Parts: sequence; structure tokens; C-alpha cells
Amino acid sequence: EPVEQDESVSTSPAGHGRRSKVAVVGAGAVGSTLAYACTLRGSAREVALFDQDDAKVRAQALDIAHGIAFTPMGTVRGSSEVEVCAGADIVVVTAGAKQKPGQSRLDLAGATIDIMRDLLPRLVAVAPHATYIMVANPVDVVTYAGLRISGIPAHRFFGSGTVLDTSRLRYLVARECGVAVQNVHAYIVGEHGDSEIPLWHSAMIGAVPLLEWASRSGSDHVLDAAAREAIARDVVSSAYQIIAGKGATNFAVGVAVARIIEAVLRDEHRVLSVSTELHDYLGIGDVCLSVPCVVGWRGVGRQLVPEVSADELEGLRASAEQVRAVARRFGL
Ligand code: 2OP
Repeated sequence: EPVEQDESVSTSPAGHGRRSKVAVVGAGAVGSTLAYACTLRGSAREVALFDQDDAKVRAQALDIAHGIAFTPMGTVRGSSEVEVCAGADIVVVTAGAKQKPGQSRLDLAGATIDIMRDLLPRLVAVAPHATYIMVANPVDVVTYAGLRISGIPAHRFFGSGTVLDTSRLRYLVARECGVAVQNVHAYIVGEHGDSEIPLWHSAMIGAVPLLEWASRSGSDHVLDAAAREAIARDVVSSAYQIIAGKGATNFAVGVAVARIIEAVLRDEHRVLSVSTELHDYLGIGDVCLSVPCVVGWRGVGRQLVPEVSADELEGLRASAEQVRAVARRFGL
């Protein structure tokens, strides 16, 4: 495990008697909502917001700071100077090209990779020991590119991936079955985007396999193949619907990424579908994709290999192929 060999990370989890600092790069809809979510949840003691637009980043930070009287204790600072990120435990990159209605995430690759080539070396210079979380889209390609640009060890550099899609899936299944979302254990894997795959075969609701929900719950509710198809389609299309309606998605991604941050800072060893580089994972490699991973203070640890159906494996391979093809197009 490469996780054990990295001496550069501080040995104690932040938040255990230590101040914790999160730097959020990009003060747009996603970055500012993430900073707000971190403040509301008390995810970290210090939140730093960094954006090239000085007036905007200061305004966002000030607006969040004015609510601190009503949140767990913390500080928020905003600046257009990269030094605001210095010494961060976690750096989250939300800055990237913006998805317009009708555009796919993969359409943003070129523009966002250019931004990463400029940003990442400057961030690494001031926060060399941080764990880096990519959020900008297409997040899997950006993570793959960013790993190479930054030189940060792989366990400290990953993407938010399908953590959000997984929560969309759980929300829809929970609603359909009339159970709490926390009792739905199902994952979306693959690309954070159009080729993502729901893992129905390994999904559980409480102690019951999701595929046997009707017979084992005594409900007449079937959750049959057609219902599952409809849910999967809904997960993929929901970001497009939200972008069409209001120009961006920000609230759910804000709390989802705050949750990933907490898993790291509190050393939770939480199983999250973050995007990491795969090496012979079910025969798939040389690509960053989301699979269930154990996330804690040292970043991403084990990648878990669930039992998958033939269709799910084929879908995951196709998703890898698609993401890899886009990375190749940009010389990665
Ligand atoms: C989302 O899934 C657009 O990637 C963004 O909300």
C-alpha cells in the first residue's frame, strides 16, 4: 500500500486537538456553496476561499463570515492571492470551465485541463502536504491530468467522482421503497457523467438485497428492471435538468464534498465512491474512475471490489474506455 510510505503527511488527523484548514479554489456556485456547507457543518476550523476575481471572492467570504455567529466556531477568509491556501490540510479545486445547458461534462476537458496546468503548481507550492480533491468537470479526466501535473502521491489526490451521483441514486431508491436514504447501500461507479453505472447487483436495503426487495420486504412494490432503468436514467439526467433550470448545480455537491472533507479530517475510513486511478481493477487500468474506496486521514486507501453482474462489468469497461479516450485526446 503506497499509503504507508508517504512521510510528508502529518501523522495526526486534523480536528484531534489541531486546527484544520480547508482551502476551496473557485468562488463560483460550487466553491462558495461548498465553503458555506463546511462552515454550517463545522467541517473544518478554517475555510479559505481562493479565486482570481478579488472583489467576488472577498464578497463571498464576507457573506459567509457574517453568519458565523450561528454556526460551529470557525473562520472564513477570501482572497485572490494563492497564499490564502497556505498550509491547508485539504485543497478542493472547483475552478474550471462552466457547463452550459446541452453541454456534457466531457466537453469541458480542454478548458479545465488548461486551468489545472496554471493552478496546480501554484497550489502545491503553498500547500505541498495537503490532500487534494478535484471537483471541476470532467472530474475523472481532471483527476488523471492533475495527478500528473501536481506530482502529489495518488492517495492524496482524488476526485469527488460519483459521491454525488451515489447520493442521487440513494435518494431515488429510498423514495421509491419508502425507507430512509441512510439505509440504502448502493453505489454508482465509473465516470461522473453520462456513462456511469449503478451497481444493482451488490445493492442492499437494510439487510435485504435490493434485487429481492419485493419478496423480502413483504411489499407489493417491485423495483423491477423497468423501475431500476428509470431510476438510473433519472440519476444521469438530473444534473442536466438542474443546469437547464438554474444554470448550475451547487447545493447537493456542496454537502457531498463537505462530507468527503470530514471523512479525511476525522479519519473516518468511510466507504465513498471517489475517483482514483485504477490499476487492474476488474481488469481496468490507466484511467481515473469512481469505485467504492476507503477514505480517511491518509486519503484514499483500499479500493473495494464488489460482486458485479456481466452487464455492470461491461458498463464499467465502456465507461473507462470513454474517459480514457478523452484523456488521450488531450495528450495524457
Ligand atoms: C453535477 O453532477 C454538474 O457534475 C455536476 O451536479
